[in-house]
Amino acid sequence: LFSAVEMAPRDPILGLNEQFNADPNPKKVNLGVGVYFDDNGKLPLLQCVQAAEKALMDKPSARGYLPIDGIAAYDSAVKALVFGADSAVVQEGRVATVQAIGGTGGLKIGADFLKKLNPQARVLISDPSWENHRALFTNAGFEVGSYRYYDAATRSVNFDGMLADLRAAAPGTIVVLHACCHNPTGYDLTPAQWDQVIAAVQERQLVPFLDMAYQGFGNGIQEDGAVIGKFVATGMNLFVSTSFSKSFSLYGERVGALSVVARDKEEAARVLSQLKIVVRTNYSNPPTHGGAVVAKVLNDPELRAQWEQELGEMRVRIKAMRSKLVDGLKAAGVQQDMSFITDQIGMFSYSGLSKAQMDRLKSEFGVYGTDTGRLCVAALNSKNIDYVCASIAQVM
Ligand code: LMR
Repeated sequence: LFSAVEMAPRDPILGLNEQFNADPNPKKVNLGVGVYFDDNGKLPLLQCVQAAEKALMDKPSARGYLPIDGIAAYDSAVKALVFGADSAVVQEGRVATVQAIGGTGGLKIGADFLKKLNPQARVLISDPSWENHRALFTNAGFEVGSYRYYDAATRSVNFDGMLADLRAAAPGTIVVLHACCHNPTGYDLTPAQWDQVIAAVQERQLVPFLDMAYQGFGNGIQEDGAVIGKFVATGMNLFVSTSFSKSFSLYGERVGALSVVARDKEEAARVLSQLKIVVRTNYSNPPTHGGAVVAKVLNDPELRAQWEQELGEMRVRIKAMRSKLVDGLKAAGVQQDMSFITDQIGMFSYSGLSKAQMDRLKSEFGVYGTDTGRLCVAALNSKNIDYVCASIAQVM
């Protein structure tokens, strides 16, 4: 049965973890996967998460099956966070939300639902995009193309190219957009550019699918989520996948969601019933712990305030590491102007380093980033920054 099975290539992001873990270099630094580490190089366990877990443990509960769409208090907290608790769209019951296995799970539920709805539709992702977007939508059965997004020559968004590609897309095309902290480039659209993108999506009758995995890592929770309100205001149907992996440092709990905005309450109920079939036929229903923790934090005013503060601290530290990276590269002898690193936002810097340079960084220095030159700035700290800067200077 398996004699013809080919060895698959390593995953471009998670596969780096495997290589990193096997690397005996004592100086190794993992800037591959998008994970935040604190200044001691430790994965944080947020205080708000610890407090919520303690409260949950103080009243131990049995683990029955969750409803197919997840914990009700979790789903309503997601709606409140993403759309605003008092927003008309939530008040009118127009949002169908299901708890998902991370943001990736949210994308996959949406992709499978869309495939059933419109099997002929094409999907467009940004060029470049998170590596898994293409693979995920391809595996869901779609033909995946791309719209122009990044202009390497000017180190900025190729906005004219993006708009032209969206305007040329056939009606019904699913457009995957990064709500904030574009992965991998770190360059987001301005509010005025979003307005034009939204107008193009509406004009061409495209289906917007927003991926929001980094809310709070750009300019703030509200600021990063603002584009959702802009889409909702148009009355369009909308898909939003969200993740708490990064913002709660709960990577391994796989806590995310898919929210679908429908025209009215009755339509939302029908959509929800279909999303539940997708979930049921893939993994039946979601796990309990991560969702319970996030629901507890988001629904408790004190814990919620603590979370916002802790997320803010992560955001501020990443920004500080960006400046240190720019200064450190200069001090290490890099002639090229690297100040673009502080223009980028979110966890990543699209460094412009080539695959050959990234290979050297990895093999000679044990500094890991993706082949595309993406570096996770959120994993830099005051102890590894000099070594990373010296290593990059060597390969440049
Ligand atoms: C990343 O881009 O590194 C993260 O989103 C982690 C992942 O699942 O790829």
